[in-house]
Amino acid sequence: MAKSEQRVALVTGAAQGIGAAIAAELAAEGLKVVVADINGDGAQAVADRIGGVAKTLDVSSPEQVSTVVGEIVDELGRIDVLVNNAALVPLTPWAEISFEEWRRVMSVNVDGVYLVTHAVTAVMGEAGYGRIVNIASNTFVAGTPNCAHYVATKGASIGLVRALAGELGPLGITINAVAPGIIASEGVLSSAHQHGFDYVVPMQAINRRGVPSDVAPAVAFLASEKAEWITGQTLVVDAGHTRN
Ligand SMILES: NC(=O)c1ccc[n+]([C@@H]2O[C@H](COP(=O)([O-])OP(=O)(O)OC[C@H]3O[C@@H](n4cnc5c(N)ncnc54)[C@H](O)[C@@H]3O)[C@@H](O)[C@H]2O)c1
Repeated sequence: MAKSEQRVALVTGAAQGIGAAIAAELAAEGLKVVVADINGDGAQAVADRIGGVAKTLDVSSPEQVSTVVGEIVDELGRIDVLVNNAALVPLTPWAEISFEEWRRVMSVNVDGVYLVTHAVTAVMGEAGYGRIVNIASNTFVAGTPNCAHYVATKGASIGLVRALAGELGPLGITINAVAPGIIASEGVLSSAHQHGFDYVVPMQAINRRGVPSDVAPAVAFLASEKAEWITGQTLVVDAGHTRN
């Protein structure tokens, strides 16, 4: 198929929550958005809503990542923007984190970022242009308890941003992280994380619950052509809960 005239964005984990809000924001800015998620039906529903393309994708599977990135290149001819948003968001005290759970969280939150970024930077490098945004978390700043594996994966995500900025800059690719505070996504609202609002909201400078659309504009800015002078950075988007 001919190369898409619209810029193309791949957003992982975009069937719900923050990823779906980012996908909608990028579509509203005129991008063709590939809504990729392990939940294929959910991805299709979001894609239908925003005029995007749905892909069923488990980011921790090397085979699936290779296939889906190949399909996007065949079908749309380009990938201008990658948002690494897919993640497991567990809440488990340290003593109860089994090695199996540790490995599962690492495989989605760290291996998944490696696999998708590695495949997509090959495409962006050939084009000489790219914008990558990793969705990290302010738990890495706050050192939030009861999710040590999760916090460690978000540190890895930020570490990758810092390390890759120098290697990708000469290829015309920027890479940054957005670190949200607690956000009322489907994942948070359906888990014990929902109780976190009770003590976090009073610590925020803006005293209301964050929602997915509070995060999306920061991601869209870093994904835009205007942000070409910003790379290797982490933007904390948490209503002033943490201040670094
Ligand atoms: N909600 C918060 O409070 C909060 C705060 C800071 C950072 N974050 C980060 O924001 C991102 C989105 O969080 P959310 O709260 O919207 O999550 P969520 O649980 O509501 O949605 C996560 C999405 O990722 C998908 N997913 C899970 N495993 C996958 C896999 N292996 N491959 C592909 N897709 C997969 C799920 O199907 C789901 O659609 C995550 O990176 C999370 O760590 C969230």
